[in-house]
Amino acid sequence: MDVGVERHRHAGRLAAAALDRRRAAGRGDARGPAGRGGAPAGGRRPGRGSRAVGAPAPAGVVSPVLTLAHTAHLDAADLVEARGLMDLAFGDFADADWSHALGGLHALVRVEGVLVAHGSLVQRRLLVGAGEGARSLRCGYVEAVATHPGHRRRGHAAAVMTALEALAPAYDVLALSSSDAGTALYLGRGWLPWRGPMSVPGPSGPERTPEDDGSTYVLPGALPLSPPLDLDAPLACDWREGDVW
Ligand SMILES: CC(C)(COP(=O)(O)OP(=O)(O)OC[C@H]1O[C@@H](n2cnc3c(N)ncnc32)[C@H](O)[C@@H]1OP(=O)(O)O)[C@@H](O)C(=O)NCCC(=O)NCCS
Repeated sequence: MDVGVERHRHAGRLAAAALDRRRAAGRGDARGPAGRGGAPAGGRRPGRGSRAVGAPAPAGVVSPVLTLAHTAHLDAADLVEARGLMDLAFGDFADADWSHALGGLHALVRVEGVLVAHGSLVQRRLLVGAGEGARSLRCGYVEAVATHPGHRRRGHAAAVMTALEALAPAYDVLALSSSDAGTALYLGRGWLPWRGPMSVPGPSGPERTPEDDGSTYVLPGALPLSPPLDLDAPLACDWREGDVW
């Protein structure tokens, strides 16, 4: 399998270097999407700086291209295409959901220039525990992971996650709120379900969000291993419009 990584202006360099380091260390999924083609022609072309990091694709097989780019470095057409992919993949993706995916680093997989998978990582604060022992963590929060319905089970979401997980050293912890469809993907990659009660600060103090209990997954980042992250502790996120988790 063969994935090209386009270094999207200088914004992608740090992430791409981390991805290279992760691959060199043999961690994570170094496979790229299989990319059996099938995407309509005429999509957006990867820019200069693309490079293949896997084995050359067999003749007639189109290699997917993975791009890492900050929101600020995506043009309007990129953003419209990614927003449209969310509607296709989720069916009920609200503008607030899309807004949660902005302001961080996007991983985009294209086949023949057409966007087939996306995910992004934005920074949030998470409060672990309660009272004086509570810890405020710098969290890389994964949002808007989706693969075009016609391109699933080809490893595209796995490639997106590999690129985003490579950013873990910049954060105390990575976290995400999983849909039912995403759970197998995250569990298979070593993400850990948070077991403690979830809440969000409301105008009059912490408000429980019991409907979100059990749907949040974390992956350790740069947090020192001692004291260990207590997955049974209460967990609170910062407030935002729409779904807070
Ligand atoms: C979840 C989703 C992103 C997976 O995308 P994908 O590109 O098909 O995933 P991949 O091919 O990279 O799969 C990677 C692994 O995830 C797991 N997985 C993915 N889809 C799965 C499914 N439908 N059933 C079981 N396991 C699945 C498998 O372990 C798979 O590895 P395998 O194919 O070697 O068995 C895609 O189904 C999707 O867009 N769903 C709708 C949107 C959504 O719910 N996104 C998740 C938000 S949290």
